[in-house]
Amino acid sequence: LKAKMIVDKAFKISEVDERIYGSFIEHMGRAVYGGIYDPEHPAADEMGFRNDVKELIQQLNVPIIRYPGGNFLSGYNWEDGVGPVEDRPRRLELAWRTIETNQVGTNEFMKWAKDVGSEVMMAVNLGTRGIDAARNLIEYTNHPGGTYWSELRRKHGYEQPHKIKTWCLGNEMDGPWQIGHKTMDEYGRLALETARVMRLVDPSIELVSCGSSSSSMPTFPEWEAVSLEHTYEAVDYVSLHQYFGNHDGDTSNYLARSMEMDYFIHTVISTADYIKSKKRSKKTLNLSFDEWNVWYHSNEADKKLEPWTIAPPQLEDVYNFEDALLVGSMLMTFLRRADRVKMACMAQLVNVIAPIMTETGGRSWKQTIFYPYMHASQYGRGISLKPVVSTPKYDAKDFTDVPYLDTAVVYNEEEEAVTIFAVNRHLSEALNLTVDVRSFEGYRIVEHIVLEHDNLKAVNTADEEAVRPHSNGVSQLNDGIVEAQLSRASWHVIRLK
Ligand code: AHR
Repeated sequence: LKAKMIVDKAFKISEVDERIYGSFIEHMGRAVYGGIYDPEHPAADEMGFRNDVKELIQQLNVPIIRYPGGNFLSGYNWEDGVGPVEDRPRRLELAWRTIETNQVGTNEFMKWAKDVGSEVMMAVNLGTRGIDAARNLIEYTNHPGGTYWSELRRKHGYEQPHKIKTWCLGNEMDGPWQIGHKTMDEYGRLALETARVMRLVDPSIELVSCGSSSSSMPTFPEWEAVSLEHTYEAVDYVSLHQYFGNHDGDTSNYLARSMEMDYFIHTVISTADYIKSKKRSKKTLNLSFDEWNVWYHSNEADKKLEPWTIAPPQLEDVYNFEDALLVGSMLMTFLRRADRVKMACMAQLVNVIAPIMTETGGRSWKQTIFYPYMHASQYGRGISLKPVVSTPKYDAKDFTDVPYLDTAVVYNEEEEAVTIFAVNRHLSEALNLTVDVRSFEGYRIVEHIVLEHDNLKAVNTADEEAVRPHSNGVSQLNDGIVEAQLSRASWHVIRLK
């Protein structure tokens, strides 16, 4: 199997916004309690946050983390999570049918995010609440002082405002499962009025309008068209969410799912641009793909969980090797759409459909999907280049013309480095790849990282890291031409400098 491509520094798609390497922590399952926060743990810091987990997150170099939900958001009273911990109420958490103790809230999370080096993408509840709670929250977090809510923050021990810049206007409001689910007009009106009030408190913020919960929602893309008709001028981004699974065990079809994601992005861009022209607007709306991942392994186990417990093991997908390949392809999809996708959040970060797993009170480890995420975040900063690709293709159950070679290229001008990311989607044959890199004179291959495994279903556990990358990739660069061997079903990071 052979594929060819040309990579030229003149073929620029766009600067990559590093926030496409964002993630997400929701108050659900063991993401917070037993995940990032575990006061009894030997590695806990003075606030109760686990240092071992912080270190793993730092390896991923996560620029922004969405919080506090998710479906949780739509029933959340943010006031429950601030002030003296001993006074905080225990609540029935209706989205996931658990008990929320509120031991962690906005201030603790902001402090923790700072420690791990991340910004926070905060969200306001537009399910059970609305304009009033949103304006109070942003006064509490962002106003310096001298008013009721800002002084309350100071009384709670946080002298300086958190200055949270990015805010989501609700979560998945198109979903019938959402607490306080709305029609597109109801949502559009409420989001617009909330946006206006929040900007009155702090004009420097950025706002995200809720888009569809997935491209298979019956209201997609009408939801975007109608809600953006209301919110277009008041917001900066529209959100997209998408999860995939290999339910029927058809891996060739599964690995092609990133094409569906690409088409989803394409349709949202078209719809946003349609509203732009309809409104004769000068503003171009960007995309925040603020929930994405593989999610299906834990579906059956979740049905058996008892309701009304604290931090049950919800959505604890154990990822296998083929999941890491699809995650790699999803990340490359964002890179190729770097001109419009400015933020993206792998959902989620710890324990709940996550690259990082922990035992409550015990060990922490990296799932298979940790690696493509870490590689993209490490080496995928700079300018996304458009490679001219010629590759053999295949047809799968739901897709035609699926390229065996999936690729994205990032050029970091400052560091004079080029990184070629690639997945070979062929399940049994290696791909010989030839890359013309003659516009990068004098560059050499400094590393060729590979993630491969004989068993597509191999997983990592606390005891054994079966799926981990190595740097023994087979490639050479002669006279401006890279020749690389991409083993069957594998992920590659070829670094030139
Ligand atoms: O990430 C898990 C859940 O998926 C989120 O709570 C929700 O927004 C989405 O449906």
